Amino acid sequence: KSNAMWGGRFAAGPDAIMEAINASIDFDKRLASQDIAGSRAHASMLAKQGILTDTDAEAIREGLLTVLSEIERGEFVFSTALEDIHMNVESRLKDIIGEAAGRLHTARSRNDQVATDFKLWTRDQYDAAISGLDALIRALIVQAEKGADWVMPGFTHLQTAQPVTWGHHMMAYVEMFGRDMSRFKDARVRMNESPLGSAALAGTGFPIDRHMTAEALGFDRPTANSLDAVADRDFALEFLSCASICAMHLSRFAEELVIWSSAQFRFVALSDRFSTGSSIMPQKKNPDAAELIRAKIGRIFGANVALMTVMKGLPLAYSKDMQEDKEQVFDAADNLMLALAAMTGMVSDMTANVDNLRAAAASGFSTATDLADWLVREAGLPFRDAHHVTGALVAMAEKKGVDLPDLSLEEMKSVHEAITESVYDVLTVENSVASRTSYGGTAPAQVRAQITRWKEVLG
Ligand code: ARG
Repeated sequence: KSNAMWGGRFAAGPDAIMEAINASIDFDKRLASQDIAGSRAHASMLAKQGILTDTDAEAIREGLLTVLSEIERGEFVFSTALEDIHMNVESRLKDIIGEAAGRLHTARSRNDQVATDFKLWTRDQYDAAISGLDALIRALIVQAEKGADWVMPGFTHLQTAQPVTWGHHMMAYVEMFGRDMSRFKDARVRMNESPLGSAALAGTGFPIDRHMTAEALGFDRPTANSLDAVADRDFALEFLSCASICAMHLSRFAEELVIWSSAQFRFVALSDRFSTGSSIMPQKKNPDAAELIRAKIGRIFGANVALMTVMKGLPLAYSKDMQEDKEQVFDAADNLMLALAAMTGMVSDMTANVDNLRAAAASGFSTATDLADWLVREAGLPFRDAHHVTGALVAMAEKKGVDLPDLSLEEMKSVHEAITESVYDVLTVENSVASRTSYGGTAPAQVRAQITRWKEVLG
């Protein structure tokens, strides 16, 4: 059996198991269009530099377009014996244009080729994540604007803490997803350097123009060190890190939607379009999209850890270990984009149950802090004493099975004689949220100011 690729050096072909462990074509075929774009740019540069004749370069560039259209039409036959997308494309090019195909690989190695292809692919995913986040943020802002003054309970320890506004809660996620977006943007700037022309690891003696190929492929500049360029997967790791943090935010929100849509909370109704039924319990409407977002996040974290682990022990420069980078990033990117789109759909479609939100906000002594603040402001108590007095009033209300505003003035006075009728003004949830006007606070006016700022940021 001869060797399909290395016939010069090898007398025998690989064992079937060797072929199975070695081949990446099953997944790296996703890099086909990037591979062809990179090769076309490389061929043009070789011709401009006089390394290839214009005739050969033209044949290569045209032939590569034919290969691309075969792949796009689903007619291309991928071969495991040819290992990966790079060899598959080059081999097919040879079928189409003949001997000139063999000149394409001048001044290039699969090491800089795969780094270039994978960077181009990953760069598109940075852009997809940025636009997916943009859509999600816009959907959250629509919700925030609708309910800038709807009152709901704010929680700590998932125990009722203080009343907040729906708009404030939505805008909290806008801040998180906004940071995610800026992380993807920052990392995209850092990664946008072209490895092409680094060759196997040491660069090349051919008079290539790396600036030309960098520009043709939309990179800002060529990488500055050929060893680093072929050994670096930071661009993939940064994508996975940014994706992991974003995924963590998605998962927290998904968890809240699962809780909020439960019969015990009834804070929101998810739309039919983003829920499913039960095959046995006719009454059920399950928040499956939220649950799957929460679950899929594990794959993204896993990909991040997996690739960090692949890379951590590798001496410079390229090792075949690095072939394991792609599936992790492919899977993480696919699931991130799906989760972002599903979250955007759920957020756009969900309906807040304004009455339930308010009722929940008013229960659980949520305005106890307002009462303590009143004692500080109106009765001159030190905050610690006010805290103690309020605690006693909460205990009294709890014993009677009522909420704070249900206590009579006499009952209040029995705990502290300085309390007057005007205390009741601060015990309503509306007044509570309206009073929290500190910058970034939950008061509707503050929330609206943040909505305005974000609309300007997004344009
Ligand atoms: N399929 C390989 C990868 O994904 C391409 C680079 C192969 N280079 C090499 N020296 N064997 O990493």
